[in-house]
Amino acid sequence: MIELIYYSISSDSINEVDISTILNAARNFNLKNNITGCLVHHNNEFIQILEGEEIVIKELYSKIVLDKRHHTITLLAQNYKQERHFKDWNMAYYNLSRDDMNEINKKLFYNNIYALSEFAQKPTYAIKLFWQIVQDLLKD
Ligand SMILES: Cc1cc2nc3c(=O)[nH]c(=O)nc-3n(C[C@H](O)[C@H](O)[C@H](O)COP(=O)(O)O)c2cc1C
Repeated sequence: MIELIYYSISSDSINEVDISTILNAARNFNLKNNITGCLVHHNNEFIQILEGEEIVIKELYSKIVLDKRHHTITLLAQNYKQERHFKDWNMAYYNLSRDDMNEINKKLFYNNIYALSEFAQKPTYAIKLFWQIVQDLLKD
């Protein structure tokens, strides 16, 4: 099994309806293909982690990079691993955009990130990197 993390910038025209369309399709496909992970949207940035069989994840990623709803897709990490970090999530989603989250919620989430990355008994480099970037996004 592999995990893959990338960063991207959402297209200017993206709205919450587009995001729910992405999530509905993604959760459907991911469930059928035993893919788990997490998508975070903050202002105009996305960060996503995908976990699953190597061939399945690579195929999905090759579709995701062609998706016109985002651009400047940057692969940040890709490695083999044994256990899923998001095993109960076909695609967890957090919208951390300024309008949707007040400062208190932001702080609580920020402080919980450490706990989230410690969920895994042995958090991988990619998992730590993922939560570190999410934490950095919250600083803007
Ligand atoms: C930020 C972002 C994340 C996405 N994540 C997933 C995902 O986890 N699973 C998925 O099936 N599609 C995901 N998609 C949608 C794919 O890019 C693509 O639209 C989908 O796989 C359907 O492709 P197809 O119509 O060529 O089969 C994502 C799209 C974006 C913009």
